[in-house]
Amino acid sequence: KFKILKQSSKSKGLGKGNGSEHCRARLGTITTDHGVIDTPIFMPVGTLGSVKAVSVEELDHCKAQIILGNTYHLYLRPGCDVIEHMDGLHEFIRWNKPMLTDSGGFQFFSLAKLAKFSDEGVAFQSHIDGSRHMFSPEKAVDIQMILGSDIMMSLDWCIGYPADEKQTMEALNKTTLWAKRGFDFWQEKGAVNNLFGIVQGGMYKHLRTLSAEQLTQIDFPGFAIGGLSVGEPKEFMYEMADHTLPLLPVHKPRYIMGVGTPEDLVELTGMGCDMFDCVMPSRNARNGQLFTSKGTINIPNAKFRFDKGPIDTDCNCYTCQNYSRSYLRHLYKSRELLAYRLNTIHNIYYYLDLMEKMRDAIRQDSFLEFKREFYSKRQN
Ligand code: GUN
Ligand code: ZN
Repeated sequence: KFKILKQSSKSKGLGKGNGSEHCRARLGTITTDHGVIDTPIFMPVGTLGSVKAVSVEELDHCKAQIILGNTYHLYLRPGCDVIEHMDGLHEFIRWNKPMLTDSGGFQFFSLAKLAKFSDEGVAFQSHIDGSRHMFSPEKAVDIQMILGSDIMMSLDWCIGYPADEKQTMEALNKTTLWAKRGFDFWQEKGAVNNLFGIVQGGMYKHLRTLSAEQLTQIDFPGFAIGGLSVGEPKEFMYEMADHTLPLLPVHKPRYIMGVGTPEDLVELTGMGCDMFDCVMPSRNARNGQLFTSKGTINIPNAKFRFDKGPIDTDCNCYTCQNYSRSYLRHLYKSRELLAYRLNTIHNIYYYLDLMEKMRDAIRQDSFLEFKREFYSKRQN
């Protein structure tokens, strides 16, 4: 269900004289029961069944093609019984386009209290009320099948930074064991929709290699790279991604989880990544940080007090077509609820527009020219 439409020419050195700037960006499509996704793609995060502050109509306006939901959160609240009764997550939230759900692997790292990892799975206490639960790799797939997500993720063990080799190895081994069990369960249940495997291995290249080797033995329809953006220096994130992406099958989608800034999306797309998700555009919008082609701006800044211009003169979003920086600053400073909505529309539009521009550039085999122009416009 993944089709590559265009692979960038291998090495197109740009002005550096040594041809060292390789371009591995590729253009593709993923076909799901809820429609076709163009890759490379960014997935806005809708943890609890909504992308915070915006409606599905507003997501359409932002040209969202796929959104992400979280198994961990939806299982705890409202609960699988409610979502099953409401005929699945798509119907429940009234989003009829593709949806990817994360398995919970990251939430055990970031949210759940007292998570205990064993061969069986993860025993954890809810971050909401402390109630006790258990996710096995089979159960994680089972829940995601009830949710009806188009792309399900295997249960994995994501560790933080720093972590020693022994800890990293243990998490990696568990991740592989669970991946096999989740995959077998998914096969038994008829292999509906898609299930992706997740590569771990911390900040050790040889462990990334090992994890990729083990996971790609399993015939997942796609692969993700997890365990990045967990507190490590940015260079490490790039190093791990650059090392791991080429180890994944060319003809299957590659997804880097929980990343990143606009610059990260440009760099990682150039390395051959097809899918991204991050709370950054939506969360930062609610904190008054807005993305523009010239860099980020903080809307509460006094310099915008009398500014009649839009957030970004290059942006065609609803917010930029209608509202001034002065008004958006006022809304934000006054804690008006409209600020969250208008800022979120802009940031998500910006991210999705950036992905579209990258796809256009790859189509025209001019990704490195695009990248040069992207950086030349930035002032911060
Ligand atoms: N989101 C960001 N990083 C990760 C990860 O390592 N695992 C999972 N399941 N989700 C993530
Ligand atoms: Zn805008």
